[in-house]
Amino acid sequence: MNTQMKPLIIGTPLTPSATRVMLLGSGELGKEVIIALQRLGVETIAVDRYADAPGQQVAHRAYVLNMMDGAELRALIEKEKPQLVVPEIEAIATDTLVEIERAGLARVIPTARAARLTMNREGIRRLVGETLGLPVSPYRFANSLEELRTAITQEIGYPCFVKPLMSSSGKGQTKVHNESEVETAWDYAASGSRVSQGRVIVEGMIAFDYEITLLTVRALGADQQIGTHYCEPIGHVQVNGDYVESWQPQAMSELALQRARDIAKKVTDDIGGLGIYGVELFIKGDDVWFSEVSPRPHDTGMVTMCSQRFSEFELHARAILGLPVDVSLRAAGASAVIYGQLDDAGIAFSGVAEALRVPQTDLRLFGKPQAFKRRRMGVALANGVDVTEARVRAKLAASLVKPVKAAN
Ligand SMILES: Nc1ncnc2c1ncn2[C@@H]1O[C@H](COP(=O)(O)OP(=O)(O)O)[C@@H](O)[C@H]1O
Ligand SMILES: [Mg+2]
Repeated sequence: MNTQMKPLIIGTPLTPSATRVMLLGSGELGKEVIIALQRLGVETIAVDRYADAPGQQVAHRAYVLNMMDGAELRALIEKEKPQLVVPEIEAIATDTLVEIERAGLARVIPTARAARLTMNREGIRRLVGETLGLPVSPYRFANSLEELRTAITQEIGYPCFVKPLMSSSGKGQTKVHNESEVETAWDYAASGSRVSQGRVIVEGMIAFDYEITLLTVRALGADQQIGTHYCEPIGHVQVNGDYVESWQPQAMSELALQRARDIAKKVTDDIGGLGIYGVELFIKGDDVWFSEVSPRPHDTGMVTMCSQRFSEFELHARAILGLPVDVSLRAAGASAVIYGQLDDAGIAFSGVAEALRVPQTDLRLFGKPQAFKRRRMGVALANGVDVTEARVRAKLAASLVKPVKAAN
């Protein structure tokens, strides 16, 4: 593995010298990674389960594929021969990624093991809570409603969170306040899982003061050794497990910040590889708990498109190519999500000009072909003298953008 740790030679796209990178999952985060890679002269291939996904609209080539199908995935990688394969989502045939990596067909970012571990809450929980012994919320796994009831009554207590083993953006997740809610939570977790498993995790609630994403970058230094770099902490608000607002920097005590970095270092050292990681942490006073980690850019990190010298996407692009990074903050910033607000295909957005009239704001409209009421369709970004001002501006700008039915 370490022998591969040198900067990739960058060639010319669409010629035999091209440096090819394949994104597995091409949503709004993948789209920004692709743009960042293209700016560095990389040839990009965007894969998603549906046509015209945001990243596919800006990539050199696009494929629609069921990425849980190992044979199809392997065939595409053999055909396209990318040097790097970059998972953007969790639902991928990760055993195939392990085979691809082992056979030396491509380097998986950050590693195939990372993709496999973080795809499943059980893998990462057991690693961080048990093997590494870092602070996490109390948790149990359950294979039936009966086991879930027992775990809550005898060990976890209320309130608690019931989650599918494989899901993201709060899908299938319920905060359970009392016994009467357990059965609904079980049913929802079983149906909300991308891969139906009949197994859930139940976690005791951490009554945190605030939660952060600590973007942590593993990148090559001049000595070709991997160094760890920490972006300023990002604060965020989640509603039903889905991010609605984020800001950077989140003020923290020195001790809490040190502990957060220590946890991020231990977890990312163990996962290994090159790239950016979104380490989610809960903070109460000076105490810090690990929650989960994405071995890729994080949705709450979209704020870095306005708050950092280099966004999380540019940092990821540089790090995976073996290039140096600069994680410095540029200005206090905030992001606020723009939801679909209606269920329709090919919607339009009114109020864009009004939104951009809010001082120091910017917008990203992702271009998703299909809107759902709670689907993330765009994000407003804003700077300010401090995060308070930036948050007010970002939320105002987001509220001014109104999804509407297309004119015909
Ligand atoms: N054990 C917990 N204690 C307190 N809050 C929690 C807990 N688990 C989840 N949450 C809340 O729900 C959000 C989403 O949970 P998370 O495990 O990150 O799910 P997802 O993988 O869908 O992002 C968290 O960011 C946090 O706000
Ligand atoms: Mg999360």
